[in-house]
Amino acid sequence: RVPSSEELVIALPKGRILKEVMPLIRAVGIEPEAAFDDPDSRLLQFRTNHPHISIIRVRSFDVATFVAFGAAQLGVAGNDVLLEFDYPEIYAPVDLDIGHCHIAVAQPKDLEEDRDPSRWSHIRIATKYPNLTHKFFAEAGIQAECIKLSGAMELAPGLGLCRRIVDLVSTGATLDANGLVEVEKILDITSRLVVNRAALKTRSVELNGWIEKFREVVNAA
Ligand code: PRP
Repeated sequence: RVPSSEELVIALPKGRILKEVMPLIRAVGIEPEAAFDDPDSRLLQFRTNHPHISIIRVRSFDVATFVAFGAAQLGVAGNDVLLEFDYPEIYAPVDLDIGHCHIAVAQPKDLEEDRDPSRWSHIRIATKYPNLTHKFFAEAGIQAECIKLSGAMELAPGLGLCRRIVDLVSTGATLDANGLVEVEKILDITSRLVVNRAALKTRSVELNGWIEKFREVVNAA
């Protein structure tokens, strides 16, 4: 289905963050159709109480891609995803103050030697953030060889793929359960409202209106 130019598509990340995002979406007055909350529904695009607004539910990295290419005009994305892609087409005007976590370097608990990152020169790291990781270490004069994985990074050190990983840490439970320990924080993360810059120019009143509504809701929280 090709959306008409009047349609407004909002891209939301599926998974854990969605539970924190939906109260904000509802607070600005957008209510998705019932199928959105039906775990058995295979729908991926949902109508809302606004006839011209729909919501798509995609992987967090894909939110940035849909918004960057203008397939969605609005979205919610973490600054981890924004920094990894660094799309110039994305404007991220509002910190939504949800999805708090951080990105960190982790290594096996029993890898006692080499806990001090300032002493590393060349390292190999499994991560879903190769660009961000490479840049972070390059700034410290460390050459990081990144192996891109899409998930379950925590398995990689134990199976000899690499000695260290760079991954999201929220409670730290996943690292702990897999025998890993955090050795350095790279970046604090929260979710942001993101907007396609071209759409913001051509539909300025409408999109700035939504940006303001989100800002008000966040400030009131
Ligand atoms: C993230 C991340 C870790 C986990 C960390 O995965 O990749 O595996 O959360 O959380 P914790 O510190 O609270 O244990 P997520 O569950 O978001 O799924 P993903 O693998 O699809 O990214």
